[in-house]
Amino acid sequence: MGKQRVLSGVQPTGNLHLGNYLGAIRNWVERQYEYENFFCVVDLHAITVPHDPAQLAADTYTIAALYLACGIDLENSTIFVQSHIPAHSELTWLLNCLTPLAWLDDMVQYKEKALKQGENVNAGLLDYPVLMAADILLYDADKVPVGEDQKQHLELTRDIAARLNYLYGNGENSVLKLPEPDIRQVGARVMSLTDGTKKMSKSEPAEGSRINLLDSPEAIQRKIKRCKTDPTRGLWFDDPERPECHNLLSLYMLLSGKDKETVAAECQDMGWGQFKPLLAETTVEALKPIQQKYQEIVRDRGYLESVLRQGREKAAAIAEQTLQRVRDALGFSRPL
Ligand code: TYM
Repeated sequence: MGKQRVLSGVQPTGNLHLGNYLGAIRNWVERQYEYENFFCVVDLHAITVPHDPAQLAADTYTIAALYLACGIDLENSTIFVQSHIPAHSELTWLLNCLTPLAWLDDMVQYKEKALKQGENVNAGLLDYPVLMAADILLYDADKVPVGEDQKQHLELTRDIAARLNYLYGNGENSVLKLPEPDIRQVGARVMSLTDGTKKMSKSEPAEGSRINLLDSPEAIQRKIKRCKTDPTRGLWFDDPERPECHNLLSLYMLLSGKDKETVAAECQDMGWGQFKPLLAETTVEALKPIQQKYQEIVRDRGYLESVLRQGREKAAAIAEQTLQRVRDALGFSRPL
């Protein structure tokens, strides 16, 4: 039997932050040799909120370069751009016609984003999870490694696939394969630096709320120096009264590679004045190799283009086959 298949993606909206890295990409990298992997830059998702056309292509290349810089190895992995493969859009349409509107109305992320957009909500924002389902289902993915916030979208993906199989197939997995979410315990929900009860997010206007993978050492030090803390002395995990403390200790644990007991023992008597410089230094050191590799990769645009060209060819061949299976199941005539 061949390896199980993994698919995941990140939107090219600006930079990647520590939430994206610790919640998703680091896990892709750690387990990449166990699977056959497909990692896409989901640029069609990025236009569900107002976007800058002058920036979209550049951000798409940045994210692809960051995948490589974070350690994705092309031996086992294919990196590609969602919009380069029209099958994603076409499958979305077919799945749209099978997805009850009430399922989409229920999506927490839609409600949160719609609230932020105010008057400016487009149909694409509501449809976002159907496009995500198409991304996953086109590749017959077994596993989808994501952060906690994507759990509901993966349940919806399974529901849509099951409905299609039930209505137009002859049994479970007959047309589309039902994927499993792969959400880690630690790092699945990295919180904002300015409010430990909110998740770190690209769409939060305050830059100081997140650390981006390409932030300079000075920016990292400044953001950590100013981040929200509390007046209590001594630091410990898992206290619901101290969400910032739990979040910052978790960041330190993940970025230093130490285990929870070691960090708890090391930091139990510390004050913030001692801990913050330690966290800043650890973050700068952890991001340094990624930043160095990123600089090497972006210097050679031709290389990055060739990675994405080969990625497109490989991904398109698989996506086309699945799409044809769905078209056949739904009863479309073949082009003459
Ligand atoms: P995006 O770009 O919003 O997020 C990319 C990944 O980062 C994770 N993430 C976090 N993890 C922990 N803490 C946080 N604060 C945090 N913020 C973001 C997300 O869970 C995600 O794994 N809808 C997807 C993109 C997508 C996709 C797909 C993913 C489109 N098609 C198919 C998997 C499979 C998203 O959230 O992108």
